[in-house]
Amino acid sequence: KDITPIKEKYQNDFLIGNAITSSDLEGARLELLKMHHNVVTAENAMKPSELQPTKGNFTFSGADLLVDKALAEGFDVFGHVLVWHQQSPDWMNTTTNAAGERVPLNREEALKNMQDHIKKVMEHFGDRVIGWDVVNEAMSNNPPNPTDWKASLRQSNWYHAIGPDYVEESYLAARKVLDDNGWDHIKLYYNDYNDDNQNKATAIYHMIKEINDRYAAENDGRLLIDGMGMQGHYNLSTNHENVRKSLERFITLGVEVSITELDIQAGGNHEQSERDRVAQALLYAQLFNLYKEHADSIARVTFWGLNDATSWRAATSPLLFDRNLQAKLAYEAVMDPVNFI
Ligand code: G3I
Repeated sequence: KDITPIKEKYQNDFLIGNAITSSDLEGARLELLKMHHNVVTAENAMKPSELQPTKGNFTFSGADLLVDKALAEGFDVFGHVLVWHQQSPDWMNTTTNAAGERVPLNREEALKNMQDHIKKVMEHFGDRVIGWDVVNEAMSNNPPNPTDWKASLRQSNWYHAIGPDYVEESYLAARKVLDDNGWDHIKLYYNDYNDDNQNKATAIYHMIKEINDRYAAENDGRLLIDGMGMQGHYNLSTNHENVRKSLERFITLGVEVSITELDIQAGGNHEQSERDRVAQALLYAQLFNLYKEHADSIARVTFWGLNDATSWRAATSPLLFDRNLQAKLAYEAVMDPVNFI
């Protein structure tokens, strides 16, 4: 069957990306990855627990291999992730008290750990990456009052140790690295999921707006946060009109938007009924029609995994290629979303 590359179909619109582990850069997986994508994100290899498992001991070798191989194969690389509540070592923001309980680290030390990690990691990868997810998933899923973003932040270890300004401090530290090194083209992203939830999107909107407005006032109108990453971990009850509302709202912030971790759960037990297959493809088509409409504001659409077998939620067959790397109906939908609907 004639298979057209997804990256060719959208070459005038946005980059097409995928999340990778080292096994995606070998053999048939690499061929499929290369055919359809022009940018990759490390699925796990650049997370804090991978890069600085114990204080001051940076373990870059695995990530370096992955990044250099990806670059040699012609991909751009997007950096994921600097500050997150998961896959981050305990020492960064917690400590043990006299009773042996894990408690938040004091603000000063946690802030320094965060700043040091950001600086060291960003300077290490340098301009091998086109951007960074600086802060990931800082917002809670059920904001009590969405216009009060500080009260809506996730009660994470970072939040407890530093306070609500850990978000802004992260971007200030990352921006300083870019400024000091003259890396103006590297984009600083905020990244989060449940991006179709209007309360959550509202809280994120207010957070980015306040942080960027404050910075712009003191820095000739420059942005501190360059981009909003809508992860896009959806399912069959996701309403694409909610995705539209969030996307259009984020665009009004004047930042670029990327879809950073797209997948759509449809089915269970590693099986997909005909009904689920069609419903999944339809939602992919609706989303790509929306993305195409806003191509001027969207930099990149990245899928979170190459095929159903190796997805982080493999049981629900969320991707465009099946266990045998064959294109699914969802692929057809992405390639011709207008006529699919
Ligand atoms: O590497 C260890 C291995 O040594 C160990 O034997 C094994 C046993 O469980 O675990 C391995 O680590 C796993 C790691 O993936 C690498 O495979 C972790 O348990 C597992 O939790 C981890 O899952 C990753 C997850 O983030 C962790 O939060 C997924 O692969 C990855 O797809 C997922 O990606 C996240 C994004 O970073 C942020 N947004 C949500 C997205 C999906 O959860």
